[in-house]
This record gives sequence, C-alpha cells and structure tokens, in this order.
Amino acid sequence: MTLDKTARTEQRRFADDPHRPRYHFLPEENWLNDPNGLIHWNGEYHLFYQYNPAGPFHGTIHWGHAVSMDLVHWRHLPVALVPDPGTADEDGCWSGVAVDDNGVPTLIYSGNRDGEQRACLAISNDGMLTWQKHPNNPVIPAPPEHLHLAQYRDHTVWREDDAWYQLMGAGLEGEGGAALLYRSQDLRSWEFLHPLLVGDAQRFTPIWTGTMWECPDFFALQGRHVLTISVWDHGQLHYSAAMVGDYRDYHFFPEVEHKLDYGDRHFYAPQSFTDAQGRRIIFGWIHEGRGAEAQLQSGWSGVMSLPRLLSLGTDGQVCMQPVPELEALRGEHTHTAAIDMPAGDEIVLPAVTGDTLEVLVELAPAESGRCGIVVRRSPDGAEATRILYDATQHQLIVDRTQSSQDLATDHNAHVAPLSLRPDEPLRLHIFLDRSVLEVFANMREAITSRIYPTRGDSLGVALLAEGAQARLVSLDAWQLRSTWEA
Ligand code: FRU
Repeated sequence: MTLDKTARTEQRRFADDPHRPRYHFLPEENWLNDPNGLIHWNGEYHLFYQYNPAGPFHGTIHWGHAVSMDLVHWRHLPVALVPDPGTADEDGCWSGVAVDDNGVPTLIYSGNRDGEQRACLAISNDGMLTWQKHPNNPVIPAPPEHLHLAQYRDHTVWREDDAWYQLMGAGLEGEGGAALLYRSQDLRSWEFLHPLLVGDAQRFTPIWTGTMWECPDFFALQGRHVLTISVWDHGQLHYSAAMVGDYRDYHFFPEVEHKLDYGDRHFYAPQSFTDAQGRRIIFGWIHEGRGAEAQLQSGWSGVMSLPRLLSLGTDGQVCMQPVPELEALRGEHTHTAAIDMPAGDEIVLPAVTGDTLEVLVELAPAESGRCGIVVRRSPDGAEATRILYDATQHQLIVDRTQSSQDLATDHNAHVAPLSLRPDEPLRLHIFLDRSVLEVFANMREAITSRIYPTRGDSLGVALLAEGAQARLVSLDAWQLRSTWEA
C-alpha cells in the first residue's frame, strides 16, 4: 500500500509526539469519539466516527470516514456528514449506524439541535463518498409522548421479519437507562413499539447501568442475543456493558450482565457489525487519560480501539479478542523461554523493549501473591506500568500508579475480576501503542488503558512476582509496524 498524501502530512506533523499511537486508527488531527456506521461493503470495511475538525473541544461534531481492505491499514476519506445550519443536525451529526437498504447505503444518526437529538437519515448514491440528507429530517420528529425522558439519542437498526427495527438509547426519569424499540417499513417513517428493556439506576449488582444508555447495539451471537450499552450519568461517561440473554416477541430477557471492558471510559460507545465472513467485530472509542489542556496542546484527542472479534465465553459472558488480521503488523520477533520468577525480583528482559509492541505471555502463578509483566519501564523503575494477576483477590490489574511522572495524567489502577482454575496459566495478549494499552486475558477479560510516560527511556519490559514465586512458561514479543506504512 502506498502512503497517501494525508498520511504523510500526519506523520510529519506528529513525528515528535511520543504519545500518538502508530498502529491504532485515529484522524489526521483533532478530535475523535464514537465509532459509527460500521459496515463491510463490497469487500471494504468502512469506519465512520464522531469527528470534530475544529480541534479538541471546539466546534460541532461531524462524521469522519475511513476505509480498509483488512481492518488494519486505513485510508482517510472525505468527511461524510457535516452539520447543516437551519436543519435538524445544525449543532452536530451525532452517533449512528449504516445499513444496506436494498443496495443503497443508508445512515441513521442523531441530529443535534438546541440540546436535543432526533433520528436523521442520509443516503449515498456514489459508493459512500457523498451523502444526501433526507429532506424531511428528522425522520422521528419527537420521542414517545407518554415516556418521561431525561435523555434520548443513538441508534441501532436491523432487518427482521420483512421490517426494519431500531433501538434508540434513552434515560427514563426516575427509572434508569432504556433501549426504545421502533419499527419501520422504509427507514423513513417509524412507529414506536415499546421499551425493549429498562434499567434500574438504583440497582448496583451485578453492575450499575446508570441513568442513560448511550449507543445501544443489539445482535445475535451464538444462538443468544447481546445488548451492549454505554453507561452514562449526568454527563459522566462510565463504561460499556454487555447483557446476554434471549430475544422473544420483541422483548429481551437478559440473564448475564457485565462490564465489557474494565478500562471503563477507555473503551466507550462501542459499535459492532457482521462482516462477509459472518464474524461479529466491535470497535470502541479509547478516551484520553489526560486533561483538556494537554489534549489541546497535542492537537489530537481520542483513538479507535483495535478491531475485536466477539464470541460467548464458557461463562456465558461476551468475550473480545483482537482480530487475527493484526498479525500483519508484526515485525521483529523475540521468544523468551521458561524461567522461574522468584518473589520480589523484577526480571528485566533486555531483548524486549519498545513502545509499539505485541506481547503474548503465559505465566504459571502461585496460589497466592501477584505476578505479571511490566511495560514502559524506565531503567531505574521510576516509571513503570504493571499488568498483574492477583491470585488471592482473583483480579487482573493494570496498575498505572507509576505509569507517568506527570501526575496530571490518570494514575488509578484498572481492575477486572479474573479467577483462574487450578493449573490454568495466566495468558495475556498485550498491545502497547505508545499511550494506548490493550490487555486481553485468558479469552475472558479485557482492560483498555491510557498511559503517558514522561521519560524517553521508559521502554523496558520486565517480569514480576510478588508474595510468591511464579514461573514464566513462554513469552513472544513483536515490534509492531505503523499502520500508515506499507
Ligand atoms: C457517546 C456520545 C453519544 C452521542 C455522541 C456525540 O460518546 O455521547 O451518545 O451520540 O457521543 O458525539
């Protein structure tokens, strides 16, 4: 693939920025948030996204657009949706989806005007390069009258039994988040049916689902149905969650409910789609972990997660794995053979260093204590990010307390529940891309995080056992190439 002009400009402008990822998708500059309109069309993957061309924090949200043959190398395309003054989206083209309407690519999105969001529609007749908005936008002019709605936006649309169905995200006053179900024959005229599901903001187990569900997504997976939502409360973005259950008579009966990713707002507003091979693939928005001023100064904010394959785990939960196509990024490889890891010592691995790495590591933990791997470690250990399994607490931890000497950056730990069976090794699949860290554990849990080491030499990798001896079974590491290179 040749480097196109925009990619070259981008590489020059941000060449000295140590935090800007090299193989995660992001716009040439400025602000990105939610993935939108994911669709596999004529052999190409289209990724739209919430984009603010005026910079982080100023101006209105547009739809950015990129395309890929392999989910790994992306080409920027012209901005797809621009807010139009005097119309339903004059204050922003907010999140939405793409569907194939009998050969016509069609977007359903939230037009933002005067602080209220309404469903709008746009179609393309030139292979998705330009979009015509429906003259009668918004296509759903008002929310259902009898519901007391605190919030109302975001869409997922599917075809079922000769009709179109849509869910809109909502928050019901005094109740909780909700997904509202609509039906249409033509995508342009919608009948409200009922809430597919309403949450309870007063219930805290197994997880709290907030007062508003942003970006609902609903799909079949291995014989069950999955609803994913993003948990919002009074302007705060919390985390994305998944519910797994049965879908019958246009109602959803969830049985399992869990956080989708334990990095909280660092995997937010995810959207998934089915590709031509029938795989269900999800992307999420990786929020920054540093303040507004630092984001403004850097000239960019927000990163798209790696594409992840969805499946149901043996525990009935939704499991995410990076797509195998990412192996195309692999460069220089190192293998580290089995060694004992005495308690208390950090074992620096001199052959494995860098800030754009993929690491596959298998460890045999003891029955107590903690063990894991350290990345972005400075030679004196002053900066270090620890990825640890705690056998006593049954937790996977991304410990950011020492990730950066810049204490204005996030430095709390991310913690996921993880119980390994006796004799089950800890298997970590780690993607490090400068300030982005995606950790997948044992086909079960994911933690997405952001780290901003200040030192140029915070590039080391080490093994660590605390409280009890552990054993390295094997470790494979690859230097990963930039996705903008050939
Ligand atoms: C989620 C979200 C959506 C909204 C969009 C606006 O991050 O708040 O609810 O449509 O972002 O950019």
